[in-house]
Order: sequence, then structure tokens, then C-alpha cells
Amino acid sequence: MNPILLIGQKGQVAWELQRALLPFGPVITVGRESEPAVDLACADTFVPLLRKIRPRLIVNAAAYTAVDQAEEEPELAEKINAIAPGILAEEAKRLGAGLIHYSTDYVFSGEAGKPYRETDPVAPQGVYGRTKLAGERAIQAAGASHWILRTAWVYGARGRNFLLTMLRLMRERERIGVVADQTGSPTWSRLIAEATAQMLARDRMTIESHSGIYHLTCAGQTHWHGFAAAIRRRAIELDLLPQEAARVDPIATRDYPTAARRPGYSVLDTRRLTDTFAIHLPHWERALDLCLEDLASCRPFQ
Ligand SMILES: NC(=O)c1ccc[n+]([C@@H]2O[C@H](COP(=O)([O-])OP(=O)(O)OC[C@H]3O[C@@H](n4cnc5c(N)ncnc54)[C@H](OP(=O)(O)O)[C@@H]3O)[C@@H](O)[C@H]2O)c1
Repeated sequence: MNPILLIGQKGQVAWELQRALLPFGPVITVGRESEPAVDLACADTFVPLLRKIRPRLIVNAAAYTAVDQAEEEPELAEKINAIAPGILAEEAKRLGAGLIHYSTDYVFSGEAGKPYRETDPVAPQGVYGRTKLAGERAIQAAGASHWILRTAWVYGARGRNFLLTMLRLMRERERIGVVADQTGSPTWSRLIAEATAQMLARDRMTIESHSGIYHLTCAGQTHWHGFAAAIRRRAIELDLLPQEAARVDPIATRDYPTAARRPGYSVLDTRRLTDTFAIHLPHWERALDLCLEDLASCRPFQ
């Protein structure tokens, strides 16, 4: 059986996919630290490999995700987020393979008053969003069977993310100011991987019949301050943080200037995912609970 090729090793979503994809047969995982190393900024490191192993499915969970740094490195972000996905899609087309690729809520401007649907107009605010959108378009143009799964506000027990940063800062500081005027849906990386696997199972690995863009986030919405407050409350209950953990104060985006502009409102409407695959993710607070319980139960070994 031809393998699944998973690109991205230690990323939040890639890590969870390594487990979630296992029931579908052999999975080859590659990234910048694999042997051979795969660097999405350099097609020579992955095109020959693809032609050699002839995967039946390519899952690209790697990306240039440093939203602010991307403003300083637009060419590199472009290579990884826009050009490489297009090449992957062209190779998938040649091989008759499907391509699963992840994209972002940051393709939207953030000015809508209601959750964004897949068909709503896009208007990214920064280099990261622009390059991710260009990647989506390159995949669509290549004509391979694909799922582009737009997700948002990803966190998990590993990697660089808001949850782990907050847990650290809440131990180190007395007070933390957190932005309260950007709204989105925090989404646990494990659920993104599980939902991807469920989609594959329901589609019998074909991808072809349901090719397209899908929004994939947890249900509900909050702002970064609401997310931080929920992390604090639940982490104290679970003994992951002391009672005197830093308090979180709501602040405005203008009081926390960053290199990249971010959408003020980027909640995604996930109805298409539910209608097509009968999948919907739980409310973000339920997912956060489960992730924190997981972290708490691993503590004796930390
Ligand atoms: N994080 C979020 O909040 C968020 C929100 C919306 C959408 N998304 C999308 O969801 C997907 C997964 O994101 P994530 O949060 O799991 O990302 P992540 O934790 O930042 O991991 C990114 C992965 O990409 C790899 N990578 C970066 N540059 C590479 C290159 N030149 N060649 C090969 N691999 C490279 C990294 O490898 P190293 O380990 O070698 O650095 C890492 O494994 C991405 O498509 C992202 O755009 C993420």
C-alpha cells in the first residue's frame, strides 16, 4: 500500500496527526529534522522524494506560522506558505494523490459581524494571511483533489502556543494584560487531527468527491482575554497553577502593538464541515478542559 506522506514533525497539528493517521496505513513523516530533511522553502528537498515514494495522500501540516516575524521575512513566508503548497498540489495531481492542507482565519479582514463562511470575501491583513491565501489559491489552481482546512487560534500541550505561554507567564508575573478586542475560536490541535482522520474515514480516503475548503474550529467564541481567564480558572482548579497565579487584565489591541495587524473578528462558520461530514467540534471551553486535564494528568512525569 502506498504510504501517506505527512509534512511537519513537531508542529502542534503535525504532532497530533502522527497518531491520528496511523489507522489509515503506513505514514511517512518528514520535516526539517527528518532523514532526508524536507525544507518547504526548497523544492529540491521534497519533489524527488514525492516522486520516489509516490504517496497516495499528502498531508501538509507545516507552515511559516510566526505571524509577526513574517512581516520581516515576506519572501521566506511566501516560499513556505504560498509556493510550496502549489508545488505539492501539482505533484499530487501528477501522482493521482489527494492533498490535505491547513489554512487560517487570518485570510479574513475581521470586519464581519457574523461567523465567516468558506465563500465569504477574503482580505488578509498581513504577510502571514496573504501568503496562506496565496497557498490556498495555488492548490486550487493545480487541480488535484484537496481539502483546505481553515482553522484558528490553535493551542495544545506541545509547541509554541497561547495556552503554554499563558501558563508560564501566570507563574512568573503578578498581572498580565491580554487583548480583549480580538474575537475568535480557540481550537485544540488534537481535535484538528482527530477531525481530519474522521473526515478521511467518512470519505473512504478518496477526497475527490468533496474537494474544497472547509472551516474547522471549535464551537463558540471568545477574545484572547476570555481565553486567558478560562485558562487561569481551570488551571488553578486542576492544580496546574497556584491560587496566586497572575491576574489577567483586559487591554485593547492598540495598547499591545504588534508588527502584524490581526483581524478583530475571525470566527469561522463550520456548517459546511457538519453538513458534508457530520462532524462538529465541541465548544472551545470543553476542549480546553480536556487539554488541561491531559496536562494535569501528565504532571507526575514532567
Ligand atoms: N497556530 C495557529 O494558531 C494557527 C491558526 C490558524 C491556522 N494555522 C495553520 O495550521 C497549520 C498547523 O499549524 P501549527 O500551529 O501546527 O504550526 P506550528 O506548531 O507553528 O508548526 C509549524 C510546523 O511547520 C514546520 N516548518 C516551518 N517551516 C518549515 C519549512 N521551511 N520546511 C518544513 N517544515 C517547516 C515546523 O517545523 P520545525 O519544527 O522544524 O520548526 C513545524 O513543524 C498551519 O498550516 C498553520 O498555518 C495555525
